[in-house]
Amino acid sequence: MKHLLKLMDLSTEEIIDILNLADQLKYEKKNGIEHHILKGKTLGMIFQKSSTRTRVSFEVGMYDLGGQALFLSSRDLQIGRGEPVEDTARVLSRYLDGIMIRTFEQKEVETLAQYGSIPIINGLTDYCHPCQVLADLMTIREHKGHISGNKLCFIGDGNNMANSLIVGGIKTGMSVAIACPKEHKPDAEIMKWASENGSFLCTDNVEEAADGADVLYTDVWASMGQEEEAAARKLKFAGYQINEKILGVANPGCMVQHCLPAHRGEEITADVFEAHANELFDEAENRLHAQKAVLVRCMAGNK
Ligand code: CP
Ligand code: NVA
Repeated sequence: MKHLLKLMDLSTEEIIDILNLADQLKYEKKNGIEHHILKGKTLGMIFQKSSTRTRVSFEVGMYDLGGQALFLSSRDLQIGRGEPVEDTARVLSRYLDGIMIRTFEQKEVETLAQYGSIPIINGLTDYCHPCQVLADLMTIREHKGHISGNKLCFIGDGNNMANSLIVGGIKTGMSVAIACPKEHKPDAEIMKWASENGSFLCTDNVEEAADGADVLYTDVWASMGQEEEAAARKLKFAGYQINEKILGVANPGCMVQHCLPAHRGEEITADVFEAHANELFDEAENRLHAQKAVLVRCMAGNK
């Protein structure tokens, strides 16, 4: 695997391989076994948006693997003053061994990969969040014992998280249902692909989507960059919430997942959040292990 730009680029086998390696790295970290597979390598981390989990887990992940990470805020980089991505890609490829980028447009990530000569990892765009979903799949397997055959229901905005969950869920054999307002559906091409390649439903009826779910997933109603729409979105998304009532139509033992940060009282109630805190923070922890597996697969052996 050269890059991780979006999950659509990965085969089911590649996804499972990453999850297996992530499980191994998690076990080894907990048992004090170190692997300095990326000794002497540097990952540049370009952030055009805020981050807690992505930044810290990539930085610690590189340290665990014997390498180092550089935090590059777009506020300080020339990219923030208009230097083209094409040039940034070619310059940074001369210094670094890999780049993780969090930005707005997916095209920027694809352009970095096209013009650069080092592995590029997508740390979230408006279109998708592949690293998060690898951690989610790892967490589902850890808690349920298997991924395939589960029903995954996402409730909320059909943007980056929904897009990646559909692709990751269908590729690993889950049935996927999305509940969102009609004007906030996931990417049309992804939905078409999902309908042709697995069991997929998109509806504005939350109960219909959550019926018989094994995993209920949600995300904020207003994503980064949509702060000004927050008030309008609160009205539009009211009801697209994980709460006790909606858990009542899901399967017994249904997991609750959220990429975080969470807004209690909006997309998830405080009671449900606390009742499922163990699963939610396992999910956050697994960002570290899943991304270490991605770093190894993309960067070991590349110089
Ligand atoms: N879930 C996630 O990507 O978190 P951060 O925005 O804190 O990185
Ligand atoms: N949809 C959210 C995900 C944050 C991890 C956002 O883009 O802000």
